[in-house]
Amino acid sequence: MVHFTATALFVAALSLSEVMAGPTHLHLHQRAHQKKDVDYSTIDYSKLDVDWDAAYAAGQASKASAAVAATPAASPAGAVFAAKVGTKVSSAVAAATSAVKSSGSSSGLLGGVVGCSNDRTSFGGLSTKAYAVGDHAINNVGIPYGANIIKVDSIEGYDFTNTFVNTQQVPITVNVWNKVGEDGQDLSGSTDAPKKTTLTFVLAPGASQIIAVQENSNIGFAQATTKLRADSGGFDTSFGEITFLAKGSGYNLSAIPNTAGNTYNMSISSVEAPQCTSDMNNNFWLTATQPIGTSDGSCYIAQSTAHLTTTMGGNI
Ligand SMILES: *[C@@H]1O[C@H](CO)[C@@H](O)[C@H](O)[C@H]1NC(C)=O
Ligand SMILES: *[C@@H]1O[C@H](CO)[C@@H](O)[C@H](O)[C@H]1NC(C)=O
Repeated sequence: MVHFTATALFVAALSLSEVMAGPTHLHLHQRAHQKKDVDYSTIDYSKLDVDWDAAYAAGQASKASAAVAATPAASPAGAVFAAKVGTKVSSAVAAATSAVKSSGSSSGLLGGVVGCSNDRTSFGGLSTKAYAVGDHAINNVGIPYGANIIKVDSIEGYDFTNTFVNTQQVPITVNVWNKVGEDGQDLSGSTDAPKKTTLTFVLAPGASQIIAVQENSNIGFAQATTKLRADSGGFDTSFGEITFLAKGSGYNLSAIPNTAGNTYNMSISSVEAPQCTSDMNNNFWLTATQPIGTSDGSCYIAQSTAHLTTTMGGNI
């Protein structure tokens, strides 16, 4: 079962951010049906897209995927076929977003960028109750924008959390974004992140910060860097990505956006799927066509909650 979409063939509007973000997991059948000019006989379905549901199933079934050998799996060519999906979030979200004014301190933050939720102590509304999986999902970004990701002191009482730990000897700035940007584009959050983002915080050596995230959110994060990609404006480093879904969450380290390669020492693990860690060696995306691991370069959680820990170990 391949979740192919004809939209994926229309590469004219290919955006660099999507090349960076990697393989697609599209569920856009209605868009496919809008296109009339596809020659289906020429399509190699096996080269398109990643079958997200199958990947979840494989991840959920896997009881021993922690130490997967670093051998590239079959290469999904989805990334190069990714077409721009310009779905907008509702105008209600946009309107509410414009009213948000962050007063957070930019003290010590690399680049001085203050996340729009830095001062938030509780979630806002859900921007959508619908959800999809994959890089192009337009899932919850909160109302107002960014109100789906907040800093908290404890994981208690939250279904979806990630605890960032700075394992370096120097203070770092962590930048957490919604993959859907404030403009409602599916992947603009990462390209916007160095300028405007959802959460920014400084972690002293050895310090940690917990974030809580609302259901149906797709987030990305990185150690902020002054090195930006010329093609997209996003951070030129490896990203962490998490999809928080009650039907089962997923997470991975992606070296795809890092022009230096697989140089960033990040490790993402979870309470719910202790057998699967995504790090520089296991269960990660090495390049847009090279997932490393059993399923598709990610870890999957079968349960309806996700409590993750991410160590930010810096460049090696
Ligand atoms: C990494 O995982 C996230 C969350 O599960 C997912 O949305 C994204 O598509 C994955 N990235 C790649 C390159 O597969
Ligand atoms: C990566 O970071 C971890 C701490 O999170 C550390 O133990 C490990 O030595 C680091 N790996 C490299 C190759 O520096």
